[in-house]
Amino acid sequence: MEKITSLAKRRGFVFQSSEIYGGQNGAWDYGPLGIELKNRIANAWWKEMTQLHDDIVGLDAAILMHPRTWEASGHVENFTDPLVDCKKCKSRFRADQIPEENLAAKKCPDCGGELTDTRKFNLMFKTHIGPAEDTASIIYLRPETAQGIYVNYRNIIQSNRMKIPFGIAQIGKAFRNEIVTKNFIFRTCEFEQMEMQYFVKPGTDVVWFDEWRKRRWAYYEKLGVKMDHLRWHQHGPNELAHYAKDAYDIEYLFPMGWRELEGVHNRTDYDLGRHTQFSGKDLQYIDQDNNNERYIPYIIETSAGLTRNLLMILCDAYDEEQVASDKNSGSSEGTASGTAGSADDWRTVLRFHPNLAPVTVAVLPLMKKDGLAELAQDIRAELKEDYATDYDQAGAIGRRYRRQDEAGTPFCITVDYQSKEDGTVTLRFRDSMEQIRVPRAELASRLRQEIKTYKRVK
Ligand code: GAP
Repeated sequence: MEKITSLAKRRGFVFQSSEIYGGQNGAWDYGPLGIELKNRIANAWWKEMTQLHDDIVGLDAAILMHPRTWEASGHVENFTDPLVDCKKCKSRFRADQIPEENLAAKKCPDCGGELTDTRKFNLMFKTHIGPAEDTASIIYLRPETAQGIYVNYRNIIQSNRMKIPFGIAQIGKAFRNEIVTKNFIFRTCEFEQMEMQYFVKPGTDVVWFDEWRKRRWAYYEKLGVKMDHLRWHQHGPNELAHYAKDAYDIEYLFPMGWRELEGVHNRTDYDLGRHTQFSGKDLQYIDQDNNNERYIPYIIETSAGLTRNLLMILCDAYDEEQVASDKNSGSSEGTASGTAGSADDWRTVLRFHPNLAPVTVAVLPLMKKDGLAELAQDIRAELKEDYATDYDQAGAIGRRYRRQDEAGTPFCITVDYQSKEDGTVTLRFRDSMEQIRVPRAELASRLRQEIKTYKRVK
């Protein structure tokens, strides 16, 4: 994880928030490559959950919601972690994350000092809206995006004439006052979620729950993730959230071990039932195709962290490998595909799927002089409309390939002296480091084909 954190900073994926002031715990900033990667992960999820499903529509609800929302949802009462403090070293722990024997003996796992009694700590950030800081002005930063969907369920049925079963998808920020924020961006106080709530007829919920589990698994397969790094974990009775009848996590094998990536939850009619009770509004569905049968729908939820997905994609893509220098470098003899040096070398490479890579193609002139830079700029301008591109003319070609490998750029185009003569360029593949010559006129279609048929080999 240290290597990934350091690469992420060095290459502008993720920076510590407010670093010049010593950093802000639990908050991170996404740099130029990070925001591109985050957007692509979000777009892949959005396409999968909306464009590819006729029965799912999107929503972007406000972060600030009426405070009654969180009473109805059960978060005011139940969204707590058990907390203990060490009286000696002042460390703070989640009581459910320290060894049981320490908890029983009230002994700090770090220094052996005495621990306080366990107390409940609500994870919602609370603030005030308006000028008065009294109980009437309390407002929360949403701890999950789901509630914004539930309070709009009636609006969406009416405005879009949705019929059950149907879903509503949303991507947005969520906030939790997490006690322990470690492992880089894995658990943070400010993060993003990608959630989809699927409204079904009671009695069909188990079938839909299984169906969504299958679909979400297939999604990661399609994304090109190492499937032997994924597994299911069913929640036991002590793990189930207050709203859930059944829940499975998709776990990923992060460098610190197996951890939750996404949850699929059967939330029953809990949420719409509670919002009916607290708002006084009738949230029953009227089934016009079935004698106007009325019922409160059950909800199957798929809930993934966007920022946690980004960490997973970074970990999944990260690789270090030893390479023979003839594969690693280009030549100084006028073409990009010659050899240089003899000693074997190491490279760090991010093997992103081309659909997720922040930069799809980098254009590199072998030399700045003799019109090569202009030709390379011209090619880049042509590709820009369709692809995220980069241009780099600084340093030896081998070093430039390395920089692109580290950024996860799947394709490099090198313009050399031969390009001026016969109109061909070198297309270099990140994963195999293979180089082939392609006529300039065929570049766009060749790239399209390579992206479509991309298969990860390592
Ligand atoms: N609406 C249901 C819900 O929020 P959750 O299991 O608490 O369920 C869902 O969260 C997903 O959100 C998790 O699987 C994880 O990917 C992400 N997530 C939750 N808390 C997070 C945090 N503090 N930092 C980053 N991601 C988090």
